[in-house]
Amino acid sequence: MSPTTWPPASRALLAQGGAFLATLLLVRLSPIALAPLAWLAVDSVLAAALGRRLGLASWWMPLNLLLPWMLQGASLLQLPGGIYLGGFLILVLVFGGGLLIQVPLYHSNREAWRALEARIPLEARRFVDLGCGLGGPLAHLARTRPELELVGIEASPLTCLAAWLRCLPHPRVKVRLGSLWSMHLAGFDVVHAFLSPAPMARLWEKVRAEMEPGSLFLSHTFAVPGHPEDWTHPLPGREGACLRGWVIRSKG
Ligand SMILES: C[S@@+](CC[C@H](N)C(=O)[O-])C[C@H]1O[C@@H](n2cnc3c(N)ncnc32)[C@H](O)[C@@H]1O
Repeated sequence: MSPTTWPPASRALLAQGGAFLATLLLVRLSPIALAPLAWLAVDSVLAAALGRRLGLASWWMPLNLLLPWMLQGASLLQLPGGIYLGGFLILVLVFGGGLLIQVPLYHSNREAWRALEARIPLEARRFVDLGCGLGGPLAHLARTRPELELVGIEASPLTCLAAWLRCLPHPRVKVRLGSLWSMHLAGFDVVHAFLSPAPMARLWEKVRAEMEPGSLFLSHTFAVPGHPEDWTHPLPGREGACLRGWVIRSKG
């Protein structure tokens, strides 16, 4: 697999690693003795250029330029190594689940929760939130739609723990740690996802293969390429935000 198809975070890491190795080589081979800060500048420019070559979006440029300077600044603070390891682990536990399919953690707001509440058909009984984040939609629906059995699945362990604690007062909510790809969707009347553009085509395949005719697939904001939704419910507060709904007509 070509590195240009890797997830952006892996490409950024590759760009930083490659630039660092190239700079070390230049330091050894260069006939000119540059000041350490000048080499740092070379390293950061190389990282930004390599990031672009690897197909990273332009907004990664300043990040790639800045990272070597930030690392250098942090090393001057002489903090114990465990702090960096701890910080890294916390980031993985909170954001790690979404890295592979390029889905960050951000939350739907109250307007979106109310739209969900209004759009879930009265006869629906089972609802799942794929990538339930901190559990906002689940907790809201548990309060406002007492007839629903609610399930959330979340891949990032700390985020999942937060959702589980938040939903603890609601016995009809089950929060599970795991990948949304492992959740079988048959038996759910309503499936909700607030992810990113990246997994939508693959998710649609799963929805079509597993959801029963008459059930409802809801996506917060993100469209399914080539498959227009049956209805759109605009959401105030964020530009372009909306709840999109597809009524499943047939399996396959
Ligand atoms: C944008 S947040 C949405 C949170 C919540 N559904 C809401 O509406 O507020 C997306 C969540 O999906 C999670 N996620 C990403 N990929 C996942 C996967 N493969 N399996 C389960 N959860 C995933 C992320 O960790 C993140 O918490």
